[in-house]
Amino acid sequence: MDGEVKTVSADNSERSELIPILQEVQETEGFLSEKSLEKISKSLNISQTEIYAVATFYSQFKFTPPARHKIKICLGTACHVKGGEKVLEAVKRTLKLENEDTTPDLEYSVERVACIGCCALAPCATIDDHVYAKLTPNKIQHIITEMEG
Ligand code: FES
Repeated sequence: MDGEVKTVSADNSERSELIPILQEVQETEGFLSEKSLEKISKSLNISQTEIYAVATFYSQFKFTPPARHKIKICLGTACHVKGGEKVLEAVKRTLKLENEDTTPDLEYSVERVACIGCCALAPCATIDDHVYAKLTPNKIQHIITEMEG
């Protein structure tokens, strides 16, 4: 139609593509970099601010590169009751982490997780693919210190 002004803005179909694209980028690159967000913004015609707002809503999306060693502290009921929080505090103290969950050198990240399926051996944690059971603050501190060795 003559004289019709088309506005360029994201419609619902572009928005519905956003989450699967973010998931794919995270799967491939391990996190959502600024460069990736910029590319997605251009291809879907959605502002980076809007993409960031959507992505931050979901805890599955990360904005920093993955650390080399991933420490997961179980805080499920059994581990919580048996001192999981103290284990977590010891990890953070050992790695000198305060509010952040990844060391500046990207060597370690720390994450709280729910039950990892070995409640009888609580408190538990995993470091990369290895499960550590019956942990104490001293034991986890020793394990990390050995890794840094
Ligand atoms: S609650 Fe930690 S392993 Fe089940």
